[in-house]
Amino acid sequence: MSEQPRLLPILGQNHSGRSAMTCMYRCGNACDHPVPNESDNPYFGDVVQTEVSRRGVVRAGAVGALVLGFAGAGAASAAPALAAPAGGGEDALTAYHGGGGEAPAAALTFSTIPPNKLDNFVVPNGYDHSVVIRWGDPVEPDAPAFRLDRQSAYSQSKQFGYNNDFLAVLPLDKHGERALLVANHEYTNENLMFAGFTTLDALSVEQIRVAIAAHGLSVVELERVGRTGEWKLVTRGARKYNRRITALATRFDLTGPAAGSAYLKTAADPRGKTVIGTLNNCAGGVTPWGTILSGEENFNQYFVGGDAVPEADKPKLARYGISTTARYPSDSRKWDRADERFDLAKHPHEANRFGWIVELDPFDPDARPRKHTAMGRFKHEGANVIVAKSGYVAAYMGDDERFDYLYKFVTDKKMAKGNSWQARKHNLTLLESGTLYVAKLDYTSASEIDGSGKLPSDGAFNGTGKWIPLVRGDKSYVSGMTAAEVLTFTRLAGDAVGATKMDRPEDVEPNPVNGKIYVALTNNSNRGTGTNPKADEANPRTANRHGHILELTEDGGEHTSETFTWSVPIVCGDPADPATYFAGYDKTKVSPISCPDNVAFDGAGNLWISTDGNALGTNDGLFATPVEGPERGHLKQFLTVPIGAETCGPVITTDHKSVFVAVQHPGELTGASIEKPASTWPDGDYAKPGVVVTWRHDGKAVGS
Ligand code: FEO
Ligand code: CA
Ligand code: CA
Repeated sequence: MSEQPRLLPILGQNHSGRSAMTCMYRCGNACDHPVPNESDNPYFGDVVQTEVSRRGVVRAGAVGALVLGFAGAGAASAAPALAAPAGGGEDALTAYHGGGGEAPAAALTFSTIPPNKLDNFVVPNGYDHSVVIRWGDPVEPDAPAFRLDRQSAYSQSKQFGYNNDFLAVLPLDKHGERALLVANHEYTNENLMFAGFTTLDALSVEQIRVAIAAHGLSVVELERVGRTGEWKLVTRGARKYNRRITALATRFDLTGPAAGSAYLKTAADPRGKTVIGTLNNCAGGVTPWGTILSGEENFNQYFVGGDAVPEADKPKLARYGISTTARYPSDSRKWDRADERFDLAKHPHEANRFGWIVELDPFDPDARPRKHTAMGRFKHEGANVIVAKSGYVAAYMGDDERFDYLYKFVTDKKMAKGNSWQARKHNLTLLESGTLYVAKLDYTSASEIDGSGKLPSDGAFNGTGKWIPLVRGDKSYVSGMTAAEVLTFTRLAGDAVGATKMDRPEDVEPNPVNGKIYVALTNNSNRGTGTNPKADEANPRTANRHGHILELTEDGGEHTSETFTWSVPIVCGDPADPATYFAGYDKTKVSPISCPDNVAFDGAGNLWISTDGNALGTNDGLFATPVEGPERGHLKQFLTVPIGAETCGPVITTDHKSVFVAVQHPGELTGASIEKPASTWPDGDYAKPGVVVTWRHDGKAVGS
């Protein structure tokens, strides 16, 4: 393939910074459709004139900080015998995370990567990188070797799926030499997967089934290379944890109050309790009990026939971006050709069975993954948990759509401490019952916000906020909606209580060091345009192309609190643009950044941000900045990914030796194909999504 002519990297951008291909395949051209949130709930809250004092550093509860930071190892030792590492318990935690590792990288002294358009993966001087796994590599030990000309749903169901997004790296032993890698496979680029691709309509049914099988998750064993920060795929032995979860065949149990409700029943599942497959799994999180959470995001695009559902059901579909006027929305994948459950005319409830948070126990290969209805249904970017000082667990979640909402879920039960089998069994039930909240923000400088991004006279975009309860168990707090309705049509519940319309909330993640919550608001080109909601202090720019970061501090440092304060420490873009802000740091010293998507933290609490759709025109990348002290806002670009790709799933391992990222949709430019690749990463022939690990030559802490 390498002799094939290369496409010039002409960015056919028509939606923010993204190629039209991205918009079509990933979101079903969401930007071309009306904003799904037509509710008239207010976007201007009450004007709060009281200056909100910045609170001091809020320490996470000791249990939260410790357990979250050591989630993987704790889980490994608590998992069934299959997963128990030698030694187990605290020894395993210490050995993996402390043994031989460097001190947390408080100072980020790496040499900044300049913006570029290279078809390469670029790391700082003194670092190296390697591809850990790519699309088509074996996951299950009996996977057939990948053949571009002989793909089948069977082989894809055993091979690494397409478009890796969220990553988790979970230690498997006390020495830090083996680990599990879990990856989400968000969506497929059929034009970059099948040789000779012409149109989606021309795909065979088997090719559609390949695409369905390329969605889902993968779990694979990794081993460390020597004593370095490099990791590689284990390619021999039983690999008993290796597993593909697909949209094609994997069974999921529905849990929580909406499981078994009428909205979730179908002809194939009259009990409304079991779903085949998971769709559009975007970001996610790791729990202290060693499971991973995965968000079902743009599930709407896979369904057809919304025009033929009962009239009463149409508003509920439309609020989730499912067309109720056309059988086949533009660029539909028409999966109903392979499986009629994707036809809502025949199975009107099938779409209600997607849009949930999935919990997967990677240490139990036989365990069914679960979809937790208690956590609500929307376009879940992901979910990230922290253990509150009180012992309850709070999960933070974003609904990634223009003008949609921020959510929090608080468990009914406290987390059991320790690594016993009983504790783990208890903790595996935590996300099945609790209270679901949506965020409503108030402002300190509302009258000064003009959409320009100009900092208010009090020196901050900031304010207070409330978590408004929507539902707890079978009790709905939303007038006119049952608990099952609130959980299944959560967006409508958020509309009803006047939640704050945000600029596409992507990752929402607690920082285990300072206990604050960081929200990536990726962009919203519709903000303040036409009749759309105007800029507000939390979303301060009209036609927001570059996005911003919101920092949220729970009152009292207690993550079950129903009140909080917030500020916007970073308003993204070219630092030369006056409408950018980097926590007051000298803007001549920061990297340009656009469209923040995923966030992660290192052991020092530094904020790492990956981007998707850089509207400044250069490649996406991974950035890092301290969030406390004089270096707060000193944002630096750590790596960049190849042409057309977004940077996803960053993991800074807790031994500080390795940074993992997912390179999603390399070469995803309009007009690209296998024969005319816009990127030849990683193998020099045609583009393949893959997972990369980066490490320092000298073995010292990454970032420092
Ligand atoms: Fe799949 Fe919101 O990114
Ligand atoms: Ca203010
Ligand atoms: Ca994302």
